[in-house]
Amino acid sequence: MIDEVFEATKSGIPFEPSSKPVPVEERARLLIDPGFGKVFTDHMAMIEYDEQDGWHDARVTARHAFTMDPASPVLHYAQEIFEGMKAYRRPNGGAALFRPDANARRFAKSAIRMAMPPLPEEMFLESVRAMVRADREWIPETEEGSLYLRPFMIANGSFLGMRSSTQFIYAVIASSVGSYFKGSSPTVSVWVTREYVRAAPGGTGEAKCGGNYAGSLVAQGEAIRQGCDQVVFLDAIERRWVEELGGMNVFFVFEDGSVQTPPLDGTILHGVTRDSLITLARDMGLTVREEPYSIEQWKADAESGRLREAFACGTAAVVTPIGRVKQADGEFLIGGEQTGRITSRLRSALVDIQRGAAPDPHGWVQLVD
Ligand SMILES: Cc1ncc(COP(=O)(O)O)c(C=O)c1O
Repeated sequence: MIDEVFEATKSGIPFEPSSKPVPVEERARLLIDPGFGKVFTDHMAMIEYDEQDGWHDARVTARHAFTMDPASPVLHYAQEIFEGMKAYRRPNGGAALFRPDANARRFAKSAIRMAMPPLPEEMFLESVRAMVRADREWIPETEEGSLYLRPFMIANGSFLGMRSSTQFIYAVIASSVGSYFKGSSPTVSVWVTREYVRAAPGGTGEAKCGGNYAGSLVAQGEAIRQGCDQVVFLDAIERRWVEELGGMNVFFVFEDGSVQTPPLDGTILHGVTRDSLITLARDMGLTVREEPYSIEQWKADAESGRLREAFACGTAAVVTPIGRVKQADGEFLIGGEQTGRITSRLRSALVDIQRGAAPDPHGWVQLVD
């Protein structure tokens, strides 16, 4: 069945254009300073699933509200997964996606972890391409602007029993975005939570499922109350190994120019940006280690000067330097709260490929025509 649907969609998902698109002048006004995740486009993609028909009824239509039964499992048991990826304007006016195949693979893995039917990767790719085609005018022309695509899958149906659903909705919405962090400082500050953990071995940490994020909000709230931008999570067992931020992976840069990031041990999201930066750093001849790093070591190295830079990375945050680390017993600074040289080089190397300002030696960019 899945193959039949794919046959029907690979030459293009049916497109029913919105009969009430946002007027051009209004859209232009919204795109001047869209912020993050507040400005939505005219359309959405949808594909439905049930046991009998498999994935079916793919379409791109006007963005609209869902009607759901109040006993839909997603509302009770959070059987939900999502992805986050960006489309960029090309220098020649076209649009391109960055490593969408990596998001498609991760989405399928998240689905399996959450007992959901994996969406065939080619259907995922076709749905995001179709959305970029439908709403490409929504990509801001600003330097940091892009179209953030949010594919997601929810369990639908009407029952309260503890089992996986047999009905699912996959959809893609899109949001015109600028930069994620708005502050005037070149760096962000992070709060190391001791009270909360994000993920434990055997849990859902490496799946991109809504529950991980719901569980991290209280810790993010703690960070904000502490005057910080983001929360850092430590491992669940020893409560000392740095894992990741609420929605970003983390890297450390040392005085010898080497780079380190926590290993993918089952509790950390396999970030596409993380993977890309490891490759780019190695291309630059830097030594990259995927090894555990403790919070005590982070503090000691920052204070001794062995650690020169630290940064957070992700689709939304791109590469954002970390300047200040706060925890219950005090805080320490990194690199004089300025953007470090290697952070800056890595960021430019990545962004230039994403935006078509530099060659793409790894074939990461997929043009959407
Ligand atoms: C928990 C978490 N870690 C890391 C990342 C970075 O992943 P990516 O680079 O694929 O956006 C994200 C963002 O999606 C995230 O939510």
